Amino acid sequence: MTQILIVGATSAIARGCAFAWAKQGQRLVLAGRDMAELERISRDIRLRFASHVQVAALDLDDADQLSARWDDLETAHGHMDGVLMAAGWMPDDSDAMRRDTPALQVLARNFTGPVALLNAAADAFAARKHGFIVGIGSVAGDRGRQSNYVYGAAKGGFSIYLAGLRNRLFADGVSVLTVKPGFVDTRMTWGLPGLFLVADPMVLGEQIVSAQAAGKNTVYLPSFWRLIMLIIQHVPEFVFKRLKL
Ligand SMILES: NC(=O)c1ccc[n+]([C@@H]2O[C@H](COP(=O)([O-])OP(=O)(O)OC[C@H]3O[C@@H](n4cnc5c(N)ncnc54)[C@H](OP(=O)(O)O)[C@@H]3O)[C@@H](O)[C@H]2O)c1
Repeated sequence: MTQILIVGATSAIARGCAFAWAKQGQRLVLAGRDMAELERISRDIRLRFASHVQVAALDLDDADQLSARWDDLETAHGHMDGVLMAAGWMPDDSDAMRRDTPALQVLARNFTGPVALLNAAADAFAARKHGFIVGIGSVAGDRGRQSNYVYGAAKGGFSIYLAGLRNRLFADGVSVLTVKPGFVDTRMTWGLPGLFLVADPMVLGEQIVSAQAAGKNTVYLPSFWRLIMLIIQHVPEFVFKRLKL
């Protein structure tokens, strides 16, 4: 049995992963900002799967505290065998592209905060020569588009970070999985216009857990997004810059 820390555990995608791991009998620590909601989710998981679930407060905006927070979490709950970084934030308007504060929050919640916590997790796993990391990026990180390039830049940076971590930790027997979802039916996308091929977060959770168990490096979910992004990445820049995407 392993113990897995899920950061951003109120996310519907994280809940899909939590259900899949709980079904296997894994111990879970659900971390995030909304303790009341985390308690509700943990009770639900315990009732459904009779599994061991605990909750913990964690805010990725406190970047300076995150390394120490990792140590505190392991002291309080015992060693982690895996981490899922599911937290993220995509503002619902163009503020992030025009004003400083939202842009910095987008970077903190999708990139610098996750990096600060995962750096501590990586050191612990490397020292023990054991563990896994799963990071949720996005297809938005594959190419900058006018509609969400701050979020896309944060996710693209996170993806490069995860690739570097995978390269560093391979020799220690620690695996790192990068997940790049397309559109998923969650609070983040609720009410957004122009969505297509929207995926079910519970199905996505099952697929993420399977991909981790299979030792995959990077997965696009659903898998057809790999082809869509391959095409998008190959549109020449002199054409791409004229598109309204
Ligand atoms: N939905 C999509 O179409 C889609 C597509 C590609 C990638 N993704 C990625 O998938 C992941 C899960 O997102 P979702 O769609 O399930 O959306 P969501 O429900 O909005 O989940 C976002 C999660 O991030 C947490 N979070 C935000 N700021 C935080 C902070 N400062 N500290 C700690 N936790 C924080 C939220 O916690 P609170 O409850 O406290 O707000 C929530 O648990 C994200 O990384 C997202 O970028 C989503």
